[in-house]
Amino acid sequence: MIPSYFTLVLPFLLPSALAQLNDLAVAAGLKYFGTATDNPELTDTAYVEVLSNKTEWGQITPGNSQKWDTTEPSNGTFSFTKGDVITSLAANNSQLVRCHNLVWYSQLPSWVSGGTWTNETLQAVMKTHITTEMTHYKGQCYAWDVVNEALDDSAAFRTDVFYNAMGEDYIRIAFETAALADPDVKLYYNDYNIEYSGAKATAALGIVTKLVNAGVKIGGVGVQGHYIVGSMPSQSDLVKTLETYTALGLEVAITELDIRMTLPSTDALLAQQSIDYQTAVSACLNVADCIGITVWDFDDKYSWIPDTFSGQGAACLFDENLNRKPAYYGVVSALKSSNRTVSTSAAASVATVSATLVSSTAQAVATSSAAGIATSLTTSAPTGFSTSYIAASSSSASSATSFAVSSPVAVASSSSASVETSAQAPTASAAPDAGDDEDDDTCE
Ligand SMILES: *[C@@H]1O[C@H](CO)[C@@H](O)[C@H](O)[C@H]1NC(C)=O
Ligand SMILES: *[C@@H]1O[C@H](CO)[C@@H](O)[C@H](O)[C@H]1NC(C)=O
Ligand SMILES: *[C@@H]1O[C@H](CO)[C@@H](O)[C@H](O)[C@H]1NC(C)=O
Ligand SMILES: *[C@@H]1O[C@H](CO)[C@@H](O)[C@H](O)[C@H]1NC(C)=O
Ligand SMILES: *[C@@H]1O[C@H](CO)[C@@H](O)[C@H](O)[C@H]1NC(C)=O
Repeated sequence: MIPSYFTLVLPFLLPSALAQLNDLAVAAGLKYFGTATDNPELTDTAYVEVLSNKTEWGQITPGNSQKWDTTEPSNGTFSFTKGDVITSLAANNSQLVRCHNLVWYSQLPSWVSGGTWTNETLQAVMKTHITTEMTHYKGQCYAWDVVNEALDDSAAFRTDVFYNAMGEDYIRIAFETAALADPDVKLYYNDYNIEYSGAKATAALGIVTKLVNAGVKIGGVGVQGHYIVGSMPSQSDLVKTLETYTALGLEVAITELDIRMTLPSTDALLAQQSIDYQTAVSACLNVADCIGITVWDFDDKYSWIPDTFSGQGAACLFDENLNRKPAYYGVVSALKSSNRTVSTSAAASVATVSATLVSSTAQAVATSSAAGIATSLTTSAPTGFSTSYIAASSSSASSATSFAVSSPVAVASSSSASVETSAQAPTASAAPDAGDDEDDDTCE
C-alpha cells in the first residue's frame, strides 16, 4: 500500500531518488552529512546496510557508548568495547566520527554523580577520564564533544557535580586537558537551544568567548537542533546566531538534528516537517563555517523521542520501515539549492572531492529543478496546510508544556502563533534531556 503522502511528494521523489545526503552535502560545501547510531540497533541488518552507506552518511556519532557511565563505570576501570564497535563500523565505511561526550551532567556513573568531592579530587578524576578516553580514541575522531550542556534552561550554569566542586572553571580545565590528550582533534562545546537568539545562546557565547580570550583551545560549537514540527526558529535567526560563534574563529555544526511531532503523524505534519528540515539545513549552508549536519538517528524506529516525550515521535528522516519520508526530500532539496561555494575555509579540505562530485552530479542537479521544487513547496504549504499546521503547532506546544510540568525542564512556547508569526518568533523547543540515565537510548 502506497502511503498517501506519496501523492503530495511524488514530484520530489523522482529527481531525488538518485541523490544521497552525504554526497549532496559534500557537493554543497559541507564536510559531511551524518547520523547518530547506537549499539542495540546494529543487530538490524537492513538498518545497518543503510547506516553503512557513505553516500548517505559521511559521519557517525555513537549515541550512548562513549558516555561516562559506559566508559568508566567504576573509578579507574575503563571499558571501550561498545564504543569501539561504532568506531570500527565507521572506519570500515570510511565515515568520520564525532566522538561524544566527555563531561556531561547526565549518564554519569553513581560513583561520580553521588561522590563527595573537593575541587582537587574531582579535577583529578575528570582529567583521568578525559585523558584515558581521548588517548584510547586518538586518531579515530574528527571531533570530541568535550563539555556537553553546561547550561540549564534558565541559561545559568547547571549546578551539577562538576560545577559544584570546581565552579565554572571546570570547563576551561576540561578543554585544556583535552587539548593535551589529543592535539589533532576538534574540541567542541555542545548544547541545545543555543542555535537561535535568546538568553541561552548569549550564555553559550559567553562560555566560548571566555575560552577563546583566555587562549584555551576550542575548535567548534555544536548546536544540537532538537526541534518541534511547526515551531522552528526562523532561518535568519539561526544564521545570525550561528554567526556569533563563527565570528570568534570557531566552526559550528548541527550535531543532533531531529524534528518531532505529536503522534499520529499526518500528511500535513510530514509536509511541515519537510519544510522545517529544509530550514535547519539551509541555515547551516548559509553560514560559511557551519561544517556539517548530524541527525540524531535517521530512522523513526530507533529515535529517542517516543521514550522521552510521551505521545511524540516520527522525528527522523526515515520511517519505521526504513522508507524515506518527505523530510528526507526536504533535506535533499535544501542541499541541492545551496548557494555556498566549496571554497569557504571550512570546506577547503574537501574541495577536491567536492569538485569531482559536483561534476558527476551536475546533470542530476540540473535536471531536477530543485529550486523550483523548493519554491513550490514553500509557497504552497502554508496555504494548503495551514489549518492542520496551526493545530499541530499548538498541540505540540501544549504537550511540551505538560512535559515541563512533570519534569524540571522548562519549556517556552507560543501556543497559537500563525504560520507566519511562528516563523518570525521561534518558540523554544522542549529540552532534549530527560536527565535519566536508565534508558539506553537517551540523547546527547
Ligand atoms: C548506497 O545507497 C544507494 C542508494 O540506495 C545505492 O545506489 C548504492 O549502491 C549504495 N551503496 C552501497 C555501497 O551500498
Ligand atoms: C579514584 O581512584 C584514584 C586513583 O586510584 C584514587 O586516588 C581516588 O581516591 C579514587 N577516588 C574515589 C572516589 O574512589
Ligand atoms: C570492521 O571490519 C573488520 C575487518 O573486516 C571486522 O572484523 C569488524 O567486525 C568490522 N566492524 C564492524 C563494526 O562491522
Ligand atoms: C578549583 O581549582 C581551580 C584551579 O585548579 C581554580 O581555577 C578554580 O577557581 C577552583 N574552583 C573553585 C570553585 O574554587
Ligand atoms: C539561495 O539563495 C536564494 C536567493 O537568495 C534563497 O531564496 C535560497 O533560500 C538560498 N538557498 C539556501 C539553501 O539557503
